[in-house]
Amino acid sequence: MQPIKKQLNLLQSLWQLFKSLFQYAIVDRWLLLLAAVFTLGITISNTVIIWLLGTPIDLIQQEDFSSITTVLSVFVLVVFLNQAFHLGNAVLSHWLGLRFVGRLRSALFSKVLQLSHLALRRFEKGDLLARLSDDVAEAEQFVVETPLDLVSHVFTFIFYSAMLFWIDAELALIVFVFSPLLLLHQRYFAARKRRVSQKFYDKSGALLGYEENALGNLQGISSYSAEDIMSRSQKKVFEKFKYWGMRDKWLDSTFFASFNLLIYLPAAVIIYVGIGNIHAGSITLGHLVSFLLYLGYLSMPIRGFAELPFAAQGSAAAAERIINVFNTLPEVIEKQGAKPLQVSHGEINIRNVDFSYLQGQPIFNGINIQIHAGETVALVGRSGTGKTTMVKLLMRFYDPVQGSISIDNQNLRDIKLSSLRDNISVVWQEPFLINASIRDNLQLACPNADQDSMIAACQACQAWDFIKELESGLDTVIGTGGINLSTGQCQRISLAQAFLRDAPILFLDEVSSALDSQTESKLIESIERFCHERTTLIIAHRYSTIRSADRIVYLNEDGTVVIGKHEYLLKTHPYYAEAIRWQTDQEKWENRKVEAEPRFLKVGSE
Ligand SMILES: Nc1ncnc2c1ncn2[C@@H]1O[C@H](COP(=O)(O)OP(=O)(O)OP(=O)(O)O)[C@@H](O)[C@H]1O
Ligand SMILES: [Mg+2]
Repeated sequence: MQPIKKQLNLLQSLWQLFKSLFQYAIVDRWLLLLAAVFTLGITISNTVIIWLLGTPIDLIQQEDFSSITTVLSVFVLVVFLNQAFHLGNAVLSHWLGLRFVGRLRSALFSKVLQLSHLALRRFEKGDLLARLSDDVAEAEQFVVETPLDLVSHVFTFIFYSAMLFWIDAELALIVFVFSPLLLLHQRYFAARKRRVSQKFYDKSGALLGYEENALGNLQGISSYSAEDIMSRSQKKVFEKFKYWGMRDKWLDSTFFASFNLLIYLPAAVIIYVGIGNIHAGSITLGHLVSFLLYLGYLSMPIRGFAELPFAAQGSAAAAERIINVFNTLPEVIEKQGAKPLQVSHGEINIRNVDFSYLQGQPIFNGINIQIHAGETVALVGRSGTGKTTMVKLLMRFYDPVQGSISIDNQNLRDIKLSSLRDNISVVWQEPFLINASIRDNLQLACPNADQDSMIAACQACQAWDFIKELESGLDTVIGTGGINLSTGQCQRISLAQAFLRDAPILFLDEVSSALDSQTESKLIESIERFCHERTTLIIAHRYSTIRSADRIVYLNEDGTVVIGKHEYLLKTHPYYAEAIRWQTDQEKWENRKVEAEPRFLKVGSE
């Protein structure tokens, strides 16, 4: 009882997986129907061809040579038809498969893009790539190719079995006596296949993830001479991949070998009984040949039926991995009926906000900040106190655990996410640039930007001087993450993106940390002009960057804030005063260094 229940559960879960992905195939219902018609054409023509192959043997024995010509003419005609159906079916199936892959892969890609960083931490990047490529291809087998094969098997089974019974019912019964063995065989293998394939795909994803991670950190690896350590670890990850790959292959091979035995052994029995029947005169030699040919070809659908749950378990494992991504909830979910954000003044209100990434490790503890319309507020505090996190909350990458954030009295939880982000220009601490030209990167922030506005934005951000020196100017491709540029150059391009976007609310997170003092001071002037009459939150460690801020928010390490003007904080907040004193001392030291340099030059030139 238990194994039958297990088998039913397996079939049920296969059906559930199939239903979840079939929506990407059913769009082509008419093409699918046409493919089924082609399959029917192939089966009928095959049935006729096999029959015609046996017929001439009896005609020769009866010395009826005139009929042989007619039989051969019909044979050639049916072969032509058969190949035409095959051609149509092959092209159409491939076309259907590609269309399915296109739809599923795009949907999965969009889903991955929608997931927030925290949700994405469940998957390695390389593993996601494996799901997008290998698993989607496997899912295509499961949802398109396998059902089309199944239709073909059903047609073949019906037509060929009917022919077997029509030719010789006694021989046909012998064939079907052996069929329970095939079912038992299939049941034994199918349950193991799903588990082994799932492991194999997981290890394949882990390997890709490991390699992708290493390739993204080449500089870090070589600076610690960690190439050997990384290669050794890669080998260990590969060993696991190899182990499960071999187990998967072993399962496939033993399945096919034992299956073939179960198919060919009954054939010997049938030949033995068939020869007896010829002697008894109940069957002709030509018919026995046709019978054996039908039987040979009948092994294909029988094998197909037996293999189907087995192969489907492998594909289902891949389909399951895709559905797991679809079922992953993003950190924030847009409310049903959310309204677009209407920015009238640009006032931001953070009320009693608590937030933590991990339970028991609070980042914010009941903080209240009001940023007035058009005001520039600086957010400062020690490293790791949550400045970048604050911007992420304002962009609604995460929701506060308690409290609320609103813009012009509209709670972020009630508004459309896209409209929120459309009204904000943000420059992140780590510039996010794609591997494309500078022009493409700028157009990512502002798709309608023309050449003149791009140049003006680059000039304002002190980026034009170096861009115009590049061989292809704005069309220079900057590499993944801007690897072909310096960090400071990437920061300036990111800032130009924000300038071009020209949104009413602006967040700047350490935008000039990688610049020299001279470039920074020019950039700050541009930023100050740009911030004018725009609600701005600016994060910086250096006081020089935030000197024009209307107010300063100091983030304490216990997740609370102190708010005031620079002079007020200097007097009342010892940590703030200490941070400023440190910076002033450092600037004095740097100035002394600059003054000292000409004397060294002089000595060197004498
Ligand atoms: N995705 C995350 N999951 C868990 N913890 C996180 C995550 N992102 C940041 N943190 C933690 O939250 C805290 C605040 O991080 P955040 O990046 O906001 O600091 P910060 O003030 O911007 O620091 P810095 O000045 O160095 O840029 C840190 O302790 C950090 O380790
Ligand atoms: Mg930060």
